[in-house]
Amino acid sequence: MLNFIYKLIPDWFKAGYYNARRKKPFSMGYTTAKFVDIKKNINDPTIIEKFKNAAALPKGYGESFDERAVEYSWAISKIPLEPGSFLDAGSALNVKEVLNHSVFDNKKITILNLNPEPTCFWQKGISYVFEDLRNMPFKDNHFDCITCVSTLEHVGMDNTPYMNDLKYKEENVFDFTKAILELKRVLKNNGKVLITVPFGAYQNYGWFQQFDSNLINKILTAFQPSHHKISYYKYEKNGWDISDGTSCKEVKYLMVTDYDSGMAQAIACLELVK
Ligand SMILES: C[S@@+](CC[C@H](N)C(=O)[O-])C[C@H]1O[C@@H](n2cnc3c(N)ncnc32)[C@H](O)[C@@H]1O
Repeated sequence: MLNFIYKLIPDWFKAGYYNARRKKPFSMGYTTAKFVDIKKNINDPTIIEKFKNAAALPKGYGESFDERAVEYSWAISKIPLEPGSFLDAGSALNVKEVLNHSVFDNKKITILNLNPEPTCFWQKGISYVFEDLRNMPFKDNHFDCITCVSTLEHVGMDNTPYMNDLKYKEENVFDFTKAILELKRVLKNNGKVLITVPFGAYQNYGWFQQFDSNLINKILTAFQPSHHKISYYKYEKNGWDISDGTSCKEVKYLMVTDYDSGMAQAIACLELVK
């Protein structure tokens, strides 16, 4: 009932309510305000240029918002403008504000995830595939570009929050390397994979793990990219900014227990070319 009433409140009101209070991530209006902010940023050529060049972000960028505030802008800045086949592995891009971006207009999009989600954009011609990233039902050398946003840290872990199936209650902390081999297999030569993971001190929360430099190196060893770039972003007092691996290495994930949720305080963004 409360959910029904909440849906009737216009987005501008929810976002305005959250922004007026601003400092309480996950409180009322948070998700709406976050996606208003994300839509503005991913469609701002100046912002996208900064992500493309790993330049400093404007003061207060993404203030009080979780890592999606940087992940989408970074990924969109790196997706090739040319037409091509595109895979979102893990379904983090399955959001209208993101999929309506012009970079996707000329792409043949597939979204692969373990579980179906409440929102679905089949009208856009998107194919949804519900399979395991460690064993994907695609032929070799198929995709021109692949995103894997905030997903690798869940692979091989307890995915029962997403899938009501005990088969997915796992503790295979190195299985993400199997996913990496699969991502490489289905990618065309010279194609690129864009990966983001929470980064800092190693932490294992059971349903996901925070990557440290040791696990980042395992990604590189498994993929063996022809070339690669890694950018780090860190949440400081008033928002997100570009950083480096050394400055982020002790950073801890922030759990917001009141809302049974959490946000990374640093992320690693990897661009791997096959
Ligand atoms: C952080 S969620 C991203 C999706 C969600 N729409 C979001 O933005 O929060 C991580 C996703 O990873 C997916 N996932 C975890 N392990 C997987 C695996 N082995 N194969 C495919 N997807 C997997 C889960 O199904 C979950 O949807």
